Parts: sequence; structure tokens; C-alpha cells
Amino acid sequence: MGWRVKRPKTRGARDLAAGTIGQAIIHLKRTTSTNDVAADLARRGAAEGTLVIADEQTAGRGRRGHAWLAPPRRSLLCSLILRPMLPAARLPRLTMLAALACARAIQGLGLPATIKWPNDILINGRKVGGILAEADFAGDRLNHVVVGIGINVNVEQADLTAISPQATSLAIEAGRRLSRWHLLRLLLAEFAVRYESMLQDEGQAVYKEWAQCLDTLGRDVTVTGHFGALCGRAESVDADGGLFIRRNSGELVRVTFEDVG
Ligand code: BTN
Repeated sequence: MGWRVKRPKTRGARDLAAGTIGQAIIHLKRTTSTNDVAADLARRGAAEGTLVIADEQTAGRGRRGHAWLAPPRRSLLCSLILRPMLPAARLPRLTMLAALACARAIQGLGLPATIKWPNDILINGRKVGGILAEADFAGDRLNHVVVGIGINVNVEQADLTAISPQATSLAIEAGRRLSRWHLLRLLLAEFAVRYESMLQDEGQAVYKEWAQCLDTLGRDVTVTGHFGALCGRAESVDADGGLFIRRNSGELVRVTFEDVG
């Protein structure tokens, strides 16, 4: 594939960078999946902070092998290349960071965003966005992580009814259309400041802020993973992002980011 990394030329994509985060932006009108394009670029040496954004994906991917469907030009669909100096055990904190940056950016638009464990972005209990982080290793050594972010921005109710009836969009919640570029600018700024802090403290501060932003604790939940479906009361999270669920039988079970894919 012949992607070239370049400074943003698209009008809306100028002046978005927050330090290294978004320092190069590849804006594609249509692609398969921004995560796939970003992984390809990363393997060919693209710098940390390179961002791939698309108006439309033809093979967008969600967690657990699900498709991520979004009508053209109405969503924020982007993937960030990172090369963090972090132990592998701390990588789940990058997903926490991405979810947190999304929630804070949406809050910056005046909407009450929260996080559903592990990394769904909710408004008023309905999903508005999600994160798909994919790491690439050579043996024990981390090559790169691609953090993919999808947020329903101006998606209309009729489209959501067909795609995912439980979902919502920023426009539905705000009652007006919103700029994807403005959202992206807020998102990159929220991401950058926390990424900086994560490289200092391995994400301890991010973990604490993420835990406070979670909408899940104290609720009855059903978590679906490779084990099937697990039901119970969400009691607490730990510093690696594990969720403790109290089953009706009284048994306490811990599920991790890896479990739910
Ligand atoms: C989820 O299942 O909640 C995660 C959804 C992640 C979707 C985004 S859209 C941009 C990037 N490219 C993809 O193919 N997936 C992610």
C-alpha cells in the first residue's frame, strides 16, 4: 500500500496536533479500517503520534471481532500510533487513557460522558463510542500500539436503529450537529496531557481518573468474554483494569481487558 505520512493539508485537519500527538495526520476519505492503515504505517516506521483518520471505513472493526459500522462522514474514526516506553503489563492503561480522553473531550462539549468498563463511552447510559487498541510485539519487545477510536458524532437515529439500537450519537444527545474536527482537537489535547503523565508514572494517575469516571461500579452487569456471559454486581476495579464481579452465588470473579478482547 502506498500511504505517505505528511503534514495535514485538509483544512479541518490543520493545527490539531498536541505536541507529538497528531504531529502527522493522514486523512483518508475512505479506507478499510484506520487501525489497519495505522498498523501498516507503524510497521514501516511511522513516528509516534501519527494519526490516521477516515471519513468512511468499509471494514471497521470493534472489540471481540465485531464489525464497527458507521455511515460516511458522520463519525470520528481514527487511529493513533504509539510507541510507549511501558512494561507490557501496563498496556491496558493505554486503553484507559484513550477512553478517558474521549470522555473528557465529550464533556468539553457539555455532554455528560462516562465510561462503561472496560472502555465503552456512554452518554446517559447509551454507547456513543469505543476503543480498539492493538499491540504489536517482536518477542517481548513492544513495536507499537495502535489505538483506534470510534465516536458517533452526527449519526442520526434512523442510522443507529439499523446499526445498533442501543447506541446514541453526540448530535442526538446535544440536539444539534457538532464538528468532528473540533471534537478531534479536544480529544488530542486530552490524550496528550495524560500520555505525558503516563510516561512519568506508568499510568497510575490515569488509572485513578479512569476508575472515577467509570459508570459501572455498583451496577448489575453482564460481561461477555471468551468464558461466555458472566452476570453479577460490579464491585471494584484494580490498578491493571481488572473488574471484580460478585456473582449471585457470592463468588467474587475478576475479569480483565484481555478476557473481553
Ligand atoms: C468497540 O468495539 O467498542 C471498539 C470500536 C472501535 C472502532 C474504531 S473506528 C476507528 C478504528 N478503526 C477500526 O477499524 N476500529 C476502530
